[in-house]
Amino acid sequence: MNIPKPGLVRSLVTEHQGGAADVDAAAVLDPDTYVDGAPFAALARLRADAPVHPVRLPGLPKAWLLTRHADVRMVSRDTETFSSMQGNTLVEVEMSPTSAMLPGIDPPRHVLYRKLINQGFTARNVTRLEPQMRKVARDIVDDVIAKGEFDAVPDISAEMSLQVIADVLGVPAEDRMDVFRWSNAIGTLGIEDPDYAPTPQALGEAAAEMFSYCGELVAHRRKYGLTDDILSALLAAEVDGEKLNRDQLNEFFMLLAIAGNETTRNTLSHGILALSEHPAQRALLARHPDAIPAAVEELLRWSTPVMHFRRTVTRDVEIGGRRIAAGDWVLIHYLSANRDEEVFERADEFDVTRADAGHAAFGGGGTHFCLGAQLARLELRVLLEELYPKVPELAVTAAPDRLRSSFFHGIKRLPCTTGTA
Ligand code: HEM
Repeated sequence: MNIPKPGLVRSLVTEHQGGAADVDAAAVLDPDTYVDGAPFAALARLRADAPVHPVRLPGLPKAWLLTRHADVRMVSRDTETFSSMQGNTLVEVEMSPTSAMLPGIDPPRHVLYRKLINQGFTARNVTRLEPQMRKVARDIVDDVIAKGEFDAVPDISAEMSLQVIADVLGVPAEDRMDVFRWSNAIGTLGIEDPDYAPTPQALGEAAAEMFSYCGELVAHRRKYGLTDDILSALLAAEVDGEKLNRDQLNEFFMLLAIAGNETTRNTLSHGILALSEHPAQRALLARHPDAIPAAVEELLRWSTPVMHFRRTVTRDVEIGGRRIAAGDWVLIHYLSANRDEEVFERADEFDVTRADAGHAAFGGGGTHFCLGAQLARLELRVLLEELYPKVPELAVTAAPDRLRSSFFHGIKRLPCTTGTA
């Protein structure tokens, strides 16, 4: 994920050109919209009437908002025409030519770097983490039972995501809150929200502290020997016969800390909210753990915590009858793709028993497909398996406080009860 420039993000307002689709597209890109909930009706109208729609963002290249599932998939799978090298959010970035930030590099270099950590994230390898994950989930559940009334965001969702990613990275327990604080301050995460928006200085400081901390972990492993964590794997790795340099190690550390944090957190929070609103489905999960894997896919579709990414078009191309010029941006809207009626029956209904038709929460496929998908799936499954059988009456007690962001589909606070108080 890119580190955005806060000033630029704040200036993002589409220039209305007057038509209904312009108004809808402006609502989709306006962070304020999301405080009251995602604009599903606007997205549905765009998919029906203007699925490839031009938007103008002050000071930035012309961009096209793509809202159909088929177009999201097509763009995701064609890295020659749709490049990630000039950033992948609504922010212009300068990438160093030797950067190891996976989301911002194209094949063939992307393939070399991704191979270095792919192995650690396969379904087989992440199952090694399950016993520890289950222990974390049990402690979380015991804690909320003891409290009776709690906020599901810090007490369940954030805690689970943080503990798991810290384990993956080999961060000792006592340092975990630091990593959490830095990754919150650095990511594109919630940067448009006044509760989180860091000053450029705070952002720079968080990055410097995180990199210095990563340096300490590296020095420790060099002195006392490599372990079985991802950082050790990266220290042992070589690209074209060369070890990763300090900047590249920092980038990997930061990427994983950020990517594994807010994504899983928001999926869990949206899931807890949806299951509170659908008690029969909640009861199903409490009684039938074998229903949980399908439920995890529905939670991912329903929540779509990363709402869009972007690519830069490398050659003139036509999508859905619209001519798009080289240099333009395309915004692939995963949240919209996941409500596409062409792909999902009753797309606006939450249904944990639906057969997955290929949601795009982890991206539309292709080389950048979420590296942490298997880890996230396991994490979500384990938490649901531990939570609902023990807290079957878990209910949300007040309206969620939603993140002001058109990038992350987030919930900041979610007051809950175990139902036994
Ligand atoms: C519910 C949880 C998650 C969701 C919804 C999610 C979503 C995404 C999406 C949409 C992308 C971009 C895909 C594309 O451009 O085609 C992505 C990429 C990525 N994700 Fe995740 N993610 C989640 C969890 C995680 C976790 C737990 C980790 C790691 C520890 C992770 C690491 C990454 C990385 C490294 C990339 C970049 C991959 C590349 O460019 O090759 N993600 N994720």
